[in-house]
Amino acid sequence: MSHPAPRPFESAPRGALAGTARVPGDKSISHRALMFSALAVGRSRIEGLLEGEDVLATAAALRAMGATIARDDDGIWHVDGVGVGGLLQPAQALDMGNSGTSTRLLMGLVASHPITATFVGDASLSGRPMGRVIAPLGTMGADITASPGGKLPLMVRGLCPAVPITYTLPVASAQVKSAILLAGLNTPGITTVIEPVPTRDHSERMLAGFGAKLSVEEGSEGRVIRITGEAELKPQQIVVPGDPSSAAFWMVAASIVPASDIVIGNVGLNPTRTGLITALRMMGADISEAQPRTIGGEPVADLIVRHAPLSAIDVPPELTPSMIDEYPALFVAAAFASGRTVARGAHELRVKESDRIGTMRAALEACGVSCTEHEDGLSIDGTGGGSIAGGAQIASKLDHRIAMSMVVAGLHAAKPVTIDDASPVATSYPAFFQTLAELTGGSR
Ligand code: S3P
Repeated sequence: MSHPAPRPFESAPRGALAGTARVPGDKSISHRALMFSALAVGRSRIEGLLEGEDVLATAAALRAMGATIARDDDGIWHVDGVGVGGLLQPAQALDMGNSGTSTRLLMGLVASHPITATFVGDASLSGRPMGRVIAPLGTMGADITASPGGKLPLMVRGLCPAVPITYTLPVASAQVKSAILLAGLNTPGITTVIEPVPTRDHSERMLAGFGAKLSVEEGSEGRVIRITGEAELKPQQIVVPGDPSSAAFWMVAASIVPASDIVIGNVGLNPTRTGLITALRMMGADISEAQPRTIGGEPVADLIVRHAPLSAIDVPPELTPSMIDEYPALFVAAAFASGRTVARGAHELRVKESDRIGTMRAALEACGVSCTEHEDGLSIDGTGGGSIAGGAQIASKLDHRIAMSMVVAGLHAAKPVTIDDASPVATSYPAFFQTLAELTGGSR
């Protein structure tokens, strides 16, 4: 897959953040809303879907496999599903762009259907490991031919009927868990996933909502999730809450820029996603929750975030799964804290859209922040609240969260921080720069 021309962005201080931000729909929930709707019998309605490139890649792939997916003028999405077992052979390779979630979950879907699909992606995605889904899906009977190292491009030849398995996750990954559960949907019998460390549970919540027979139990080895196959999913009306992973950038920005005081509306607060809020509060951040409510089966609230002096912490490793996508933002917060923040136990960061340990170390060091790289994390010496030096161009490495995190770092830098390519932001947060303008003067 080719990429648009790089779009550099220069981030410099813009004063305190003020006003209200609305974050886009949750990326994980948006992917799942489309996939489960595509497998239901009848028409589902989705409100608040994230219209980022990653989710649009999922929609395009599902269309290529027979689902009818349309957006009306009010931004509501309608999906006419084909029913579990009803996916059709796609005519061409499925282009997953930058999206690991689309790839791994859709591989699960294809694995138990009588179809063959080829998955391709951009340079970032083509470097990411797929062995973690190839192994369990292969045990279920799918025949998967991957590029060297278990990478994309790869081809999945599904087996129908597939074989139900019991699988203990060797790595804490909601994508692997979900790929197996999705394969299990069209597999006779009971497919079981055991999760020693809990990860985001959107698949479990939503599949139960769609009428799948799914149980979750706490066992001695961890969470035991069982799905009964040859499921019949009923179409749903889904409202997607705001993405806490997108809210993360504003939480950190308002915490580090003096005099900031903002509201972030409609943020999903599923406990499997709120590790960053816990870590920031441990550092002294002033984050409070207003109007707690439930949307689409998920806890949601508005967050009020005010500037506060931050102190370094040892980030508890047990928070890792619930803040796995938020480490780049946390590293920026640490750069402005007093003392040395140590974040370990996050080896998975090496295989995200970029190697987020190495990429963030290089970016922060270029901006004058002293860091020590560990195999499984980063130690960062903060400024104690003052600005970082900045004055550097940093490489975003096709990684949206690196780009957005370093834009935030530039908001409190002595000299501007230039992001070499901010175009990856469109994968998860197309309105990011508009919201930045609104919070920093555009709407005041
Ligand atoms: C996701 C799971 C996480 C996360 C990713 C989205 C999901 O990945 O990093 O952005 O929607 O299931 P892993 O499953 O690799 O931990």
